[in-house]
Amino acid sequence: MIDTFKQIVTERRSIKPASMNGKKINETAIHQLLELADWAPTHARTEPWRFIVYTETGLQKFCQEHAALYKAHTDPEKFTTAKYQGIIQNGEKVSHLIVVYMKRQPTKKIPLVEEIAATAAAMEHILLGAQALGISCLWSTGGMTHHESMKPMLGLAEDDMVMGLLYLGYTDEPLPEGKRNIPLAEKISWHK
Ligand SMILES: Cc1cc2nc3c(=O)[nH]c(=O)nc-3n(C[C@H](O)[C@H](O)[C@H](O)COP(=O)(O)O)c2cc1C
Repeated sequence: MIDTFKQIVTERRSIKPASMNGKKINETAIHQLLELADWAPTHARTEPWRFIVYTETGLQKFCQEHAALYKAHTDPEKFTTAKYQGIIQNGEKVSHLIVVYMKRQPTKKIPLVEEIAATAAAMEHILLGAQALGISCLWSTGGMTHHESMKPMLGLAEDDMVMGLLYLGYTDEPLPEGKRNIPLAEKISWHK
C-alpha cells in the first residue's frame, strides 16, 4: 500500500488550465474527490472546509466575474488585457473549478492557523485523489483569489478565507518534471 501511495504522491504534478484538453470529468469522480476532502483531520471537529463547484455555464460565469473583479480593482497602469483574457481563458479547457474556502467558526475557539491547516489538508486530499483518478489539477491562488472583493462575490463572511481555486480537467501533454529545490535532509533535524 505504501508503494501505491508513494507513487500517487510523487507522480502528482500541478497542471495549468492552458494544458488541459476540455474533456469533462464525470460528476461521480467529483463527488469522490469531495468525499476524500471531507476526511481531512480537524481540531475539535470544526470541519472548516467548504467547496463551491463550478462547471459548464457556471464555470464560464465565474471566470467572467473573476476577470471583472481584476478589471475593477486594478490600477489602470498595472492592468493588462493579457491577464484579463487569461483569467477568462482559464475556464475554457478545464472541466470543473472548485473554490475552496475556510469557514471561520463564530466562536473562534480554534486558532486561525489550525483552521487554515485543516482546510489545506482537505485540499491536498483532492489533489491526491485527482492523481489517483488520472485527473489533472492546479491549486491556484492567481488573479483575485486573495483580494478582499472575492469574498462578497462568493457570498463569504468577512472572517472566512478563500484558500484557492482548484482547476480540474484532463491533459494530453507530457507531465512536467517533478523537482524539489531544497534537499530533504536540510528540512529535517533529528534528535535521538
Ligand atoms: C497555496 C498554493 C498556491 C499556488 N498557487 C499557484 C498559482 O497561482 N499558479 C500556479 O501556476 N501554481 C500555483 N501553485 C502550484 C505550485 O506552483 C506547484 O505546486 C509547485 O510548482 C510545485 O509543483 P508540483 O505541484 O507539480 O509538485 C500553488 C500551490 C500552492 C500550494
